[in-house]
Amino acid sequence: MRKPIIAGNWKENMTHTDAISLVQTLSYELQEKDYDRAEVVVCPPFTALRAVQLILENDHIPIALGAQNLFWEDEGAYTGEISGKFLKALHCDYVIIGHSERRKYFNETDETVNKRIEAAFRNDLKPIVCVGETDEEREAGSTEEVIGRQLRDGLAGHDISKMVIAYEPVWAIGTGKAATPEDANDTIGFIRRTIGEISDAKVADGVRIQYGGSVSAGNIAQLMGQSEIDGALVGGASLDAKSFAMIVRY
Ligand code: 13P
Repeated sequence: MRKPIIAGNWKENMTHTDAISLVQTLSYELQEKDYDRAEVVVCPPFTALRAVQLILENDHIPIALGAQNLFWEDEGAYTGEISGKFLKALHCDYVIIGHSERRKYFNETDETVNKRIEAAFRNDLKPIVCVGETDEEREAGSTEEVIGRQLRDGLAGHDISKMVIAYEPVWAIGTGKAATPEDANDTIGFIRRTIGEISDAKVADGVRIQYGGSVSAGNIAQLMGQSEIDGALVGGASLDAKSFAMIVRY
């Protein structure tokens, strides 16, 4: 019922010329039946969005385009910022919001996540909202408290049925140490129950929740075999077309 969604977060990788060859190679690797089974999204850096957009559209490749962040004002004197309006003009469908790297290095908070979600909706973009606990928070037994707060404050006032949620335990990102499928499933089950409380049971049942953190061709099948996991947000392994295609085909 919930169509799996596999998204590649390229982070600060790929010049626009590298991005062109990556998306072209990826399109050779993937076949029509792959797109039927899962929705495929790539999130290049801002500077590569236009190049990737043109390839996807000119070659009729059914990969959706996403950005990695957006600012909450649509335009104005905000040097260095990129708005949802600009992303929509490049035919982006998705935008990642509140990634832990943005929370850690750029002081993003649940409050700014909330403002960015509003800006995404105003511009008809689907947010992929990231939540997850750090190693210390996990060790302290506060995973559910932390994620509960990220969801309640970050998503407050917004239509959760139009979002994708990504559960990314910070300790699993880029470490090669993915959460066990059972642990990821348990926490995603908690996220779904919390969404049921914030919103309602129907929304909770329909919303797609991805797992992210050291997803690879080797562990994707087990992760996707879990009842609550609806897809993956893939970092490192999305930079290699063959690996990412294997993940899409889990
Ligand atoms: P890795 O797959 O490199 O661990 O990164 C996960 C991530 O942060 C995706 O947003």
